[in-house]
Amino acid sequence: MTLYWFGYEQGNGVDMPTVLLTGANGGIGLGFAEVYLHAGWQVLATVRNLDAAEELRALATANDQQLELFSMALDDFASIEALGKQLRGRPIDVLLGNAAKTDCPKTGVGDTDYEAWSEAFLVNSMAPMKLAETFLDNVAASQRKIMYFVSSRIGAKPPAGIIIYRSSKSALNQVVMQLSLMLADQGIIVACGHPGFVKSKANGYKGVFEARESAGYLKDIIDNLTPAGSGKFFDPDGSTLPIVTQQTNPAAFGAKPVGAWDEEKHQ
Ligand SMILES: NC(=O)c1ccc[n+]([C@@H]2O[C@H](COP(=O)([O-])OP(=O)(O)OC[C@H]3O[C@@H](n4cnc5c(N)ncnc54)[C@H](OP(=O)(O)O)[C@@H]3O)[C@@H](O)[C@H]2O)c1
Repeated sequence: MTLYWFGYEQGNGVDMPTVLLTGANGGIGLGFAEVYLHAGWQVLATVRNLDAAEELRALATANDQQLELFSMALDDFASIEALGKQLRGRPIDVLLGNAAKTDCPKTGVGDTDYEAWSEAFLVNSMAPMKLAETFLDNVAASQRKIMYFVSSRIGAKPPAGIIIYRSSKSALNQVVMQLSLMLADQGIIVACGHPGFVKSKANGYKGVFEARESAGYLKDIIDNLTPAGSGKFFDPDGSTLPIVTQQTNPAAFGAKPVGAWDEEKHQ
């Protein structure tokens, strides 16, 4: 039987939509690989160490040519550019930035690990921009034209602590919002979302959701993205969260205090 979905034929290998996925070797990334394969998509899965990705390699063997594996490290931009060259001319419907440095040290005031912070910014905030730049033409050439990045509620939540990981995700949200604005005229939708509290290596396999379950919820959100969802930050149930701190007073930028300038006071 042939299933039709957004103008694609699914299930027979013809014109299947394509997702490019990072961090596919475990956790939510492996869950994404499974749910996209199950839905009949062509999956281009990247990992930084293919030799250690046994489960993913087994999945590739079981799914013949529907799952293609690539090496790419987000802290090595040359490896991102190399994959960009390798995939030149191939439409990518969904660029799915899932990988992140999740093992950031939880430091306090006085023992900040600046090296770890730089790495977190490189992998979690700057690499998503590099991915967007590298695969822009591939996404623009596709039917769905979506870039989606897995962020975290922690990036927009106030409690003190976990400053390295938290700020790297806040910065990611700003990158997503900027990309959504800068790529709108090309019809590209850019959004991000929180995956829920998910059992993975990142949190010692504690959590509420199984990885595949979370991936399924996020795929539903991605499937239903329209231009109105660009620049939005989604919870797994499809509701939205503030993506960055919202300025409520547009006049505040450059505004002067009310009242006359007191020359004497400020001399
Ligand atoms: N689990 C949760 O409750 C939760 C909550 C909020 C947000 N998230 C977000 O969900 C996403 C997936 O996380 P997860 O829970 O599945 O955690 P995870 O198991 O730690 O997965 C992280 C993935 O990113 C990859 N990665 C890390 N550094 C990389 C680099 N420099 N280059 C390429 N790949 C790199 C890891 O590869 P290696 O295996 O080689 O290290 C792994 O595949 C992340 O963006 C995370 O921030 C998770």
